[in-house]
Amino acid sequence: MERLVTVGRGGSGKTTFVTLMVKYLIEIGATPMLLVDVDPDQNLAEMVGIDLRKEGKKTISELLIDTFIEKGGTTVGVAPSERMESQIWEMGLYEGSNFDFVAVGTKFIEGCYCLPDAALKKALEGLTKTYKYVLIDSPAGLEHLNRRITSQVDDMFDVIDPSQKSFNHIERAYRIAKEVKIDFKNFYVVAGYRVPEELEAEVEKRTKLPYLGKIAYDKDVERYVLTGKSLLELPNSSPAYMSVKKLMAEVGHKTI
Ligand SMILES: Nc1ncnc2c1ncn2[C@@H]1O[C@H](COP(=O)(O)OP(=O)(O)OP(=O)(O)O)[C@@H](O)[C@H]1O
Ligand SMILES: [Mg+2]
Repeated sequence: MERLVTVGRGGSGKTTFVTLMVKYLIEIGATPMLLVDVDPDQNLAEMVGIDLRKEGKKTISELLIDTFIEKGGTTVGVAPSERMESQIWEMGLYEGSNFDFVAVGTKFIEGCYCLPDAALKKALEGLTKTYKYVLIDSPAGLEHLNRRITSQVDDMFDVIDPSQKSFNHIERAYRIAKEVKIDFKNFYVVAGYRVPEELEAEVEKRTKLPYLGKIAYDKDVERYVLTGKSLLELPNSSPAYMSVKKLMAEVGHKTI
């Protein structure tokens, strides 16, 4: 099982990137996969064309609220994260033909994701279904790295935007991931669609990390997002998709 995590600053193109990786992995037959949305804004579901509510699925935060607040469940005895594991798989997991999907949801208690994170972590550790890929879409910022939803990662992708802050982000993301002992195999830098060529040329020099290339600007991506259409339906000739396809093949995600 390959675990891929995307990080980056706000609006750099993380969720689009994850979705295009999903499209690519479907195309090469690397299914089933599990998509994990850690962002409270929950954009990933829409981009991959699912509506959790319509599917009758709940986020992990909602399941925790149901169990421990509304039903007055007691937290004595079994650790809440353990008690949640089966519930997550029964009521939180959307199962599709190519991928399954689970979302952490909004903040459980203001300022702290400890409980939903612990529940998700436990559930992920207890995965019985064998996924070929697990893809994690992160919120902007780096706080979630401390949350250590998964401690084992194969590829970490930092999607940058055209700013000095993006370079700081890379440095900090790399350092924090090491500090909190996320055991990652590769750390790659990917340029978001707004990064100009001049900046691209500097990435490797400045970061000393492998740079994979840029996700091309694609007006269809904008259009699909605006109308709420799934990016999985983009034509294979989509410039953004083609760049992701190339970059994935380059780092060895080819056929299974
Ligand atoms: N390759 C692209 N071509 C054109 N527009 C794009 C592309 N990638 C992303 N966008 C635009 O940028 C917006 C933000 O992209 P996306 O949601 O992927 O960023 P993000 O990093 O996940 O944002 P957030 O930090 O809010 O989670 C999209 O809604 C879309 O309009
Ligand atoms: Mg996002």
